[in-house]
Amino acid sequence: MKEFCRKGWIAVGIAGILVFGISPVHADEKKQKAKSEEELGIRKETLYDESKVVPHHGEYGREKPGESKRIERAFENSPPLIPHDLTGMLPIAETNNSCLNCHMPEHAKSLGATALPKSHFVDMDTGHDLKGKLDGKRYNCMQCHVPQVNIPEPIKNTFKAEYRTKKSKTSSDLLDSLNEGVTAE
Ligand code: HEC
Ligand code: HEC
Repeated sequence: MKEFCRKGWIAVGIAGILVFGISPVHADEKKQKAKSEEELGIRKETLYDESKVVPHHGEYGREKPGESKRIERAFENSPPLIPHDLTGMLPIAETNNSCLNCHMPEHAKSLGATALPKSHFVDMDTGHDLKGKLDGKRYNCMQCHVPQVNIPEPIKNTFKAEYRTKKSKTSSDLLDSLNEGVTAE
């Protein structure tokens, strides 16, 4: 009789685990309904019909150089974003690069523009100082510097930059800090 009782309780216990322990997991799985194709991407419209889809482009800032507000650097020594209007400045052509008219160190100060940093006058592949001549690899400014549109991000960017100095939030010092901690043998 005693033996039967023990076995009986074990059976009840197993049944309990099955009912209360395992079945809630099944219930959870059921709750997570499969996502439809429209729910999968950032875009919420159907992928099979383009006729009503209007892309959200946003608007570029219209403030002229000298009137725009510099944008805080995305992270230390990141290429600064272009805060001003670019009407009439593009494309950058082999014989005409209007960015240089204002950003070459000899013009920048009097115009209130940020001067090209030292790193743009050094061949970063060889470390060779180009003695005031712009490195050809830096000629196409828009390859690294871009303007911004005023449009809410579809996904919030939670990246938080850490700056070692207050100054590095608004200006760069790449050439001076690049070899920090590196000891030549
Ligand atoms: C007419 C002069 C002028 C021209 C041309 C010009 N800029 Fe500027 N730029 C400025 C000024 C002035 C500022 C500082 C912000 C302000 O006062 O509007 C600035 C700011 C910037 C900044 C931000 C610098 C920082 O410290 O955050 C970048 C990047 C930049 N310009 C890139 C360019 C590029 C690339 C071009 C060419 C497509 C260009 N600029 C053409 C005058 C000019
Ligand atoms: C290959 C990428 C690249 C190209 C091309 C490039 N830059 Fe930069 N630029 C950077 C980076 C990265 C920084 C920040 C680190 C540094 O100073 O080198 C920077 C920094 C700057 C700064 C900030 C200087 C300071 O003291 O804070 C200005 C202004 C600038 N660039 C203007 C230009 C202009 C104008 C051109 C075109 C003639 C240009 N850059 C081409 C990558 C680039």
